[in-house]
Amino acid sequence: MLSSRLSIINDINAALKDVDKIVIVMSGKGGVGKTLVSCSLAIGLNMKGYSVAILDADIHGPSVPWMLGIANELLRAEGDRILPIEINDIGVVSFDLLLDVKEMPIVWRGPLKTRALLEILSKTLWGRRDYLIIDMPPGTGDEPLTIIQWLRDRISGAILVITPGMLVKHIVSKAKSFLYNTNVKYLGTVVNMAYFKCPVCGSIHRIFGTVDIDSKEIIAEIPIDPDLAKYIENGKIIEYLKQENETSKKLLMISTYVENILSKTP
Ligand SMILES: Nc1ncnc2c1ncn2[C@@H]1O[C@H](COP(=O)(O)OP(=O)(O)OP(=O)(O)O)[C@@H](O)[C@H]1O
Ligand SMILES: [Mg+2]
Repeated sequence: MLSSRLSIINDINAALKDVDKIVIVMSGKGGVGKTLVSCSLAIGLNMKGYSVAILDADIHGPSVPWMLGIANELLRAEGDRILPIEINDIGVVSFDLLLDVKEMPIVWRGPLKTRALLEILSKTLWGRRDYLIIDMPPGTGDEPLTIIQWLRDRISGAILVITPGMLVKHIVSKAKSFLYNTNVKYLGTVVNMAYFKCPVCGSIHRIFGTVDIDSKEIIAEIPIDPDLAKYIENGKIIEYLKQENETSKKLLMISTYVENILSKTP
């Protein structure tokens, strides 16, 4: 048991040996914009000249390939190794890219999911990357815990994504204590769908309410943007971020924040 555990840790470390920094993106609940933040962070870092990969670790709701417009691709293998799909020089690995029939739900239970996550981490040819971004399964349960425990001290830090509304303070403190207990550095929080700006008069409406957390922890406040939703729907998040507008600038601020904060830590 102990020896197989050690051998898995060795395999994961060997697979990630040329990956410099690992950043995880997590949320207290689903549907808050975790995948949007993961993709924006990866694209932003890539635009700054870093080599980046994304692991979509959400087995049941993988959406990274959809947002990046590569949902119809399939991962290829080289021997017993998985090759990430490269889009704009960003390597992407997702459970969805293993499936011929994308509508087929993955119905694995706990231990099988853990094994699958460990396999994909250790069997991928990640190559040389400055950053690996992990889009985590929602919540602070079993799956995020598995990933963190197996990656151990390889994780440089975690970003939390929230939307304003009921229980935000509670969700943030729960996620922070989860990170504290697992020894992962908390980098800060992205508040998604923070406000809507009227396209006619420019007035700001905080539709879902305000967020009662320390402003020093807030990495960026992302507006509700119907135009962004359309681009996401069409798998065109890269194209969206290359435009200069208020939302794209705020989404790209996330990568600047991460670059700055992690350049200060060894
Ligand atoms: N700021 C925004 N403005 C408009 N639409 C948004 C915004 N953020 C997210 N959305 C929409 O909300 C949906 C959910 O976003 P996303 O997939 O990033 O959330 P998630 O937290 O990863 O969800 P899941 O828990 O299902 O993985 C997306 O389909 C997107 O179209
Ligand atoms: Mg998601």
